[in-house]
Amino acid sequence: MTAQIINGTELAQQLLADVARRAAALTARGRQPGLAVILVGEDPASAVYVRNKIKACEDSGIHSVLERYAADLSEAQLLERIAALNADPKIHGILVQLPLPKHIDAHKVIEAIAPEKDVDGFHISNAGLLMTGQPLFRPCTPYGVMKMLESIAYPIRGAHAVVVGASNIVGKPQAMLLLQAGATVTICNSKTRDLGHHTRDADILVVATGKRNIVTADMIKPGAVVIDVGMNRDDAGKLCGDVDFANAKEVAGWITPVPGGVGRMTIAMLMTNTIEAAERT
Ligand code: GUN
Repeated sequence: MTAQIINGTELAQQLLADVARRAAALTARGRQPGLAVILVGEDPASAVYVRNKIKACEDSGIHSVLERYAADLSEAQLLERIAALNADPKIHGILVQLPLPKHIDAHKVIEAIAPEKDVDGFHISNAGLLMTGQPLFRPCTPYGVMKMLESIAYPIRGAHAVVVGASNIVGKPQAMLLLQAGATVTICNSKTRDLGHHTRDADILVVATGKRNIVTADMIKPGAVVIDVGMNRDDAGKLCGDVDFANAKEVAGWITPVPGGVGRMTIAMLMTNTIEAAERT
């Protein structure tokens, strides 16, 4: 059996068309949605992600502000910029690209963002709202994964979902969203003993560890949905995920490719969250 591919590029395009419509409607009422993106330092991967986010704003009719700072920006200076953006009525969403340089306390920075502008959904008050089933913003990557499951009309209620990875950005909020959609959820991480024992029982398998080939074909239940959040480089420098795609697609029922899978969805959901923030003002 060969899996059906869940095409993130196509699905993201559909969602971005809806974003553009809503942005135009807000702009016509004198409330163009605005997103501020802050990048500190020279991490090349972060620079690419940020460029793609700004480009998506331009394509969707969202006003964007990119603030780039050298790696030696002080924590106090960064907090000052966030306070200014919190007070700026043209800005509805604020995103500080992670990771931050080591001398800056990322938790403190995230907590400084006004929760109603925290389009990443990382603020502790937004994490708490998500946990208690009343989300203000769903973190972009897990939100995108839920949209992918929705696109194939997968019956989540009662299914066994296994999430590999327990980060605050992906794994933990992903588990929460799946739980709230009625799945029975197992959360694993890169240290889990006999990972295959857990993954082989998954109807829905979401992998977000940043470890290439951590999930191989023999660890997948035939017919399962496999969502690969990983973003790695193979030995030839080619972009690849956490799942051994070539072999896994012969076992899975549905699978997401890398590139062309979850990555595109993350940006589409960031745009969606920015629109939602602007619509609430
Ligand atoms: N770094 C990697 N992923 C993300 C994300 O979704 N948001 C932010 N702010 N930084 C990231």
